Amino acid sequence: LDVASRRWRTTSDVQASFPNRGTYAHKGSNGRGVIIGAQPTMPGSVLLSSRAALRSGAGLITVATLKENISIIANGCVEATYHVLPNLIDRLSDKDLKAFDQFDAIAVGMGMGRAKSELLSSLIENLDKPVVIDADGLYHLKTFLDQKAEKRANLIITPHYGEMAMLSNLPVSEIKKAPFEVSKQFAIKHNLYIVLKGKNTIITTPNGTQMVSNQGNPGLAKGGTGDVLSGILLTMIMQHPSILEALANGSYIHGMAADLLIDLKQHTEIDLLATDVIEGLSQVFRTLS
Ligand code: APR
Ligand code: MG
Repeated sequence: LDVASRRWRTTSDVQASFPNRGTYAHKGSNGRGVIIGAQPTMPGSVLLSSRAALRSGAGLITVATLKENISIIANGCVEATYHVLPNLIDRLSDKDLKAFDQFDAIAVGMGMGRAKSELLSSLIENLDKPVVIDADGLYHLKTFLDQKAEKRANLIITPHYGEMAMLSNLPVSEIKKAPFEVSKQFAIKHNLYIVLKGKNTIITTPNGTQMVSNQGNPGLAKGGTGDVLSGILLTMIMQHPSILEALANGSYIHGMAADLLIDLKQHTEIDLLATDVIEGLSQVFRTLS
């Protein structure tokens, strides 16, 4: 692989490309995003994503989930609005699709469960907008990955190494040996963006351009930090003209939040939680501006 195509993100890259919020900014201009997911056993997943999306500066966030989840999620995120889905299994109804078509971008899959589902395929077949697919959504994606690849230029997948192994049918050991090459081949073959998460996070575009973020620390190796990243990426995609820059900046600020919390002695790698990373975004934005 061409080494020059691997670009390490720096703080000044993020500063240079981070979108300005104009004086006349309004909710709509800051992005309207919808987050779809959460079985009743995992309400924290979309709660973390929605709070992270809002703390990253999204104008409006709607959580689409089962009715029984709403009070618990709304209790943790009063700024979001809610869309009731009857289940996370069936194809989305025309009414749901029409509602989701009003948003600028979508994040789906967090806490969704792995029971056979047609939700994701119906979403992707019917809506032509950026969709961040994470966690259990990746398992559903795999069931129809080899169909209609040309429609997928706006799909963003955010696997950790285990999920990348599942998607690519390669052992984790092979991906660890050549994460750039594996990502590049997969992104080109399936015409999608990949955020391969780990100590370093590798971003690959559908044509194989790559960037890397070295931010973050082992304090992030805890349940929920990936859900936080999905929310951050959703907002970044709505606000950046380039999806590549959005993914690179989002991955960078997620890791940077975790690093700053430790540098500033607010947390250690032991006690850092996903919710703390969301609060740490404030330190990131202070540092960047
Ligand atoms: N150094 C730097 N960053 C790290 C490190 C580390 N040592 N370990 C983890 N991270 C970062 C990753 O880069 C990623 O951004 O923390 C995040 C972890 O994301 P996930 O692996 O998706 O973790 P999680 O939030 O637990 O996922 C929730 O989704 O992926 C599924 O199986 C997972 O069910 C679980 C759910
Ligand atoms: Mg995850």
